[in-house]
Amino acid sequence: MPRTAMGARTLPGEYFTSPTVYDQETSRIFLPGWICTGRASDIPEPGDFFLHELDGESFLIIRSESGQINCFYNVCRHRGTRLQHEKCGHLKSRIQCPYHAWGYDMEGKLKSAPNMMGTPGFCTSDHSLQAIACVVWQGFILINQQRPAEDFKNDFRDILHRFDPWELDRLVSAHEIIYDVAANWKIIFQNYSECYHCSLVHPQLRPITSVETASNDFQQGHFLGGPMILAEDHESITADGKRCGQPLAQLSETDLRRVYFYTLFPSLFISPHPDYVLTHRIERVNSESTRIVCNWLFPADTLQQTNFDASSAVEFWDLTNRQDWEICELTQLGVQSRAYRPGPYSGLESMLVAFDQHYLSTMKDD
Ligand code: FES
Ligand SMILES: [Fe+2]
Repeated sequence: MPRTAMGARTLPGEYFTSPTVYDQETSRIFLPGWICTGRASDIPEPGDFFLHELDGESFLIIRSESGQINCFYNVCRHRGTRLQHEKCGHLKSRIQCPYHAWGYDMEGKLKSAPNMMGTPGFCTSDHSLQAIACVVWQGFILINQQRPAEDFKNDFRDILHRFDPWELDRLVSAHEIIYDVAANWKIIFQNYSECYHCSLVHPQLRPITSVETASNDFQQGHFLGGPMILAEDHESITADGKRCGQPLAQLSETDLRRVYFYTLFPSLFISPHPDYVLTHRIERVNSESTRIVCNWLFPADTLQQTNFDASSAVEFWDLTNRQDWEICELTQLGVQSRAYRPGPYSGLESMLVAFDQHYLSTMKDD
């Protein structure tokens, strides 16, 4: 049994139910953390934007004329009105407030403010939109409300180039499914981080890979996970065991026989396969519910092939996801009970022990 799992027990119930814990998570994890909001390929053209809701805030994420992606609080600098309310779209030139028509460029600079020019002391340069750090890494857009963009490379240094062989920044989504799950976000992370449950909850996974083949190359801290090995007669994890497209071009022979499962605390799972990369973007909604945005990413040129069909990858993981969410919802119901007590982790749950340790150490920091 891995040393980390010995004697470790699951988290007390309050961590899955308490509004106080929820608020502490906001200040200690979600405000200072890098939060994945989507893919750069979702907003390919200057003026394309989408909104991201997080802990009661709304963020406007927009590609500017220079091609850079910016993130602003969706709050007008005049009287605070929400600037955009469509979830996504395209702006021709200005971000215009619907109240008194103050107009901002895509870098957030106030460019027009009707009838304000005679106002004593008024200067447009004092009223730019409030920006937060926004970086694009491997095609993912990550934002941070408290830390500068310059910190990102250091914060992600352990994993910065881990996905280079899959050329993640070149992949685009062939399919997206959004799931609303009645379970705490940590239950979703913990469920993804072990395959102890796989033989019972996912019978369809049995012929493809098994928990005995699992290992971990990130064993503590912010990033956790590692590979499982495919059964000899399977090319990938799909409903029919065959790849949906060509194998990704830069993969080694070893990687062509493996599927990897990584968690990036606190908002992303990345699961590289030989022919595609499955991603789960995790949005904490409240103590008892989580929204999960699942994407199947393929190379753009694979998508354009006339015979391309992602359905066997989508079918397999949609079924598996639903099985997972159902068991997570049952777990949420159980940990809310007055009868729930922390239970012992098995040796197959060392990543959950590592998750809990990292979570608790982060929650201690102010
Ligand atoms: S509140 Fe935005 S222009 Fe007045
Ligand atoms: Fe599962």
